[in-house]
Amino acid sequence: MQERVLLIGATGRLGQHFVKALQSEGHSILALIRKDPATDDPHRRELLARYARSRVKVLDGGLEDVAALERGMHEVDAVISCIDHRPDHLLLQSNIAEVAARFAHISRVIPSQFGIDSRLYGETRVEHGDFKRKMQSVFQDAGVPFSFVHTNGLANEWVGSLGQLGLPRPPTEQVEVYGTGDIRFSVVALEDVARYAVRALFDERTRNKHVAIIPPDNIVTQTQLIRMWERKTGRTLRRAPVSSAALDERIEGFGRDPSKRPLLAMAQLVRAAWIDGLGDGRRLPDVLELTELYPDIGYRSVSEYLERYVDE
Ligand SMILES: NC(=O)c1ccc[n+]([C@@H]2O[C@H](COP(=O)([O-])OP(=O)(O)OC[C@H]3O[C@@H](n4cnc5c(N)ncnc54)[C@H](OP(=O)(O)O)[C@@H]3O)[C@@H](O)[C@H]2O)c1
Repeated sequence: MQERVLLIGATGRLGQHFVKALQSEGHSILALIRKDPATDDPHRRELLARYARSRVKVLDGGLEDVAALERGMHEVDAVISCIDHRPDHLLLQSNIAEVAARFAHISRVIPSQFGIDSRLYGETRVEHGDFKRKMQSVFQDAGVPFSFVHTNGLANEWVGSLGQLGLPRPPTEQVEVYGTGDIRFSVVALEDVARYAVRALFDERTRNKHVAIIPPDNIVTQTQLIRMWERKTGRTLRRAPVSSAALDERIEGFGRDPSKRPLLAMAQLVRAAWIDGLGDGRRLPDVLELTELYPDIGYRSVSEYLERYVDE
């Protein structure tokens, strides 16, 4: 059945894939788009032109704009937020909860989570994770029907970098290896996140549930990831070991310098993934796993994902 979905973050890395996934399932999209974004790059303009040519309807405004959210929610059945990980941006999603709570016809909201289930790590271990966890309570307390989608590592960040977060593509000479290099981490392609989450959006079984996307063949160690890349390219990379103590020192240093906030988030995630193993496929008892729930969808393997960098 065709449904109408309000999408926040349609110009973002993940949001773009939600546009494709929603359209390929025949749903119609109302995209909340800021007129004055922080960066107005040509890629964003081109994307918006493409959206205008396809069936994406644009609603002017940002998450700060409660009136725009009200106008949008009048027109749709469900809401997906792909807002980025900045704590102040994550907190703005309270406006979605507040408005959705007044609109009984909104059948589901997927707020921006899309990482390691933040309930698995303690307070202050991953700063933006604390805000994602806080948002879970906001939606639950507002009585809005939700699905919280946990994904562990998104492949564009974790596979393309061979696990050294922050690299846009595999390094050519040297790669940092954290801890033993033998801790497993579950990764998934952005396009697959969107396809599984869109299916969950209108599934009664996932209403008011935590769900996770843990493709069983995509749980890899950093060492396996690097070796896979070396086999594909025939080149050997120098390993630069980073102990957990050295990583903790980095985290402390970044924490003292507000200009290093993005690096702090990355280093905290690297610790949670490659040292603490919190994204190794473990899940709390209340979590439904979507590759099990929808076996027909299928997913890209890590090896397939790496192929896209071979000829770059
Ligand atoms: N697990 C992982 O490995 C991993 C990796 C990356 C991201 N993530 C998660 O995935 C989610 C999405 O991240 P992303 O990387 O796709 O983010 P992104 O590329 O930075 O995109 C953010 C989107 O939010 C929009 N936006 C920002 N502020 C807004 C506001 N006030 N009102 C309305 N829209 C606003 C931006 O629009 P403009 O075009 O107007 O700026 C953009 O479309 C986050 O939860 C993030 O933590 C997880």
